[in-house]
Amino acid sequence: MKKILITGGAGFIGSHVVRRFVNKYPEYQIINLDALTYAGNLENVKDIEHLPNYKFIKGDIVDETFINDLFSIHNFDGVLHLAAESHVDRSIEDPLSFVKTNVIGTMNLLNAAKNQWKDNFKGKRFYHISTDEVYGSLGAEGLFTETTSYDPNSPYSASKASSDHFVRAYGETYGLPYVLTNCSNNYGSYHFPEKLIPLFINNIINNKPLPVYGDGNYTRDWLFVEDHAIAIDLVFHEGKNHETYNIGGFNEWKNIDLVKLLCKIMDQKLGRAEGKSQELITYVKDRPGHDFRYAIDASKINKELGWKPSVTFEEGLEKTINWYFDNEDWLKNVTSGAYKEYYQKQYS
Ligand code: NAD
Ligand code: TYD
Repeated sequence: MKKILITGGAGFIGSHVVRRFVNKYPEYQIINLDALTYAGNLENVKDIEHLPNYKFIKGDIVDETFINDLFSIHNFDGVLHLAAESHVDRSIEDPLSFVKTNVIGTMNLLNAAKNQWKDNFKGKRFYHISTDEVYGSLGAEGLFTETTSYDPNSPYSASKASSDHFVRAYGETYGLPYVLTNCSNNYGSYHFPEKLIPLFINNIINNKPLPVYGDGNYTRDWLFVEDHAIAIDLVFHEGKNHETYNIGGFNEWKNIDLVKLLCKIMDQKLGRAEGKSQELITYVKDRPGHDFRYAIDASKINKELGWKPSVTFEEGLEKTINWYFDNEDWLKNVTSGAYKEYYQKQYS
């Protein structure tokens, strides 16, 4: 039986990856390690917690002793590393926590994996999940490819870039078998409402202002989270060691156009007059160091592994919005308590 460690499996993307692996590979034993920060939530994996090939462990990847002990108890065949501090705005307020989790935490996992596997790397794999934000910002033209130079601008992307470099360095220096992917903006169910799409869905439901940063012309490429999970499954099993793959949705949107589309769909769902939710749009102070545009060239993963997004943006957005309507309690729970303080501080 293969024993696989998935970190950050109670978060947004991690919960989709854990669910896919637990359901699709009953022969694997999946250990979900998560510190359950504000972004981690056991409700996100409630539907699989009873399955015999799944185990949850609460723990912090920054704690070196804990990580070393975990690796001495379990003989892992693979690691899928998703645990991270993931929100750019929070990284501007508290960069050090991003260095701790994203850099030191990744180092602890790399060291533990290297030490456990060093006598025989065969059949082992360390998969580091990263972001396209490490490449910095594009102008109106062009796409990020796997050979684009790293040029991170936010503390978040700088911490992810640093961890990516350490993963590569462990491959080159110690021969650690790794794969690395850099993906564009995800959206879908279980997305914490601090990021654009779930924040705006929640605010539209509650008739609260929609805070668009700057002029709203910033551009992102959006990928449905379940398509990201499919790509991660494929790269973990079929990607080449010591390779990077870019993952993207071929789906660029200016923020303001995306917000207007969201308002239109939400008006229909809520039975509001067309244009009603758009009245909530409020242009607010820009994010410092705001990257203008991200866009991914995902042709390598397409050509080499045959992956491409399976749902259109319209389908994915519809599924996402329906999920938030069907999971009102989840939304209420995650937006109570500490969320209110965060919101007040960020948007007042
Ligand atoms: P998330 O913030 O929703 O979840 C992160 C998870 O990591 C949470 O469950 C949290 O509890 C856990 N965690 C945080 N610090 C930890 C620590 N010190 N020890 C153990 N667990 C800890 O993030 P996400 O959006 O699901 O992103 C997952 C990964 O994918 C991250 O590495 C992120 O950089 C990357 N990524 C995200 C996106 C995106 O659009 N969200 C796009 C590309 C790449
Ligand atoms: P976000 O979801 O935070 O993802 P990222 O910064 O990692 O791309 O933001 C997506 C885009 O939406 C980005 O250009 C910033 C913008 N944005 C707003 O205009 N208002 C907001 O309240 C948030 C959270 C984001």
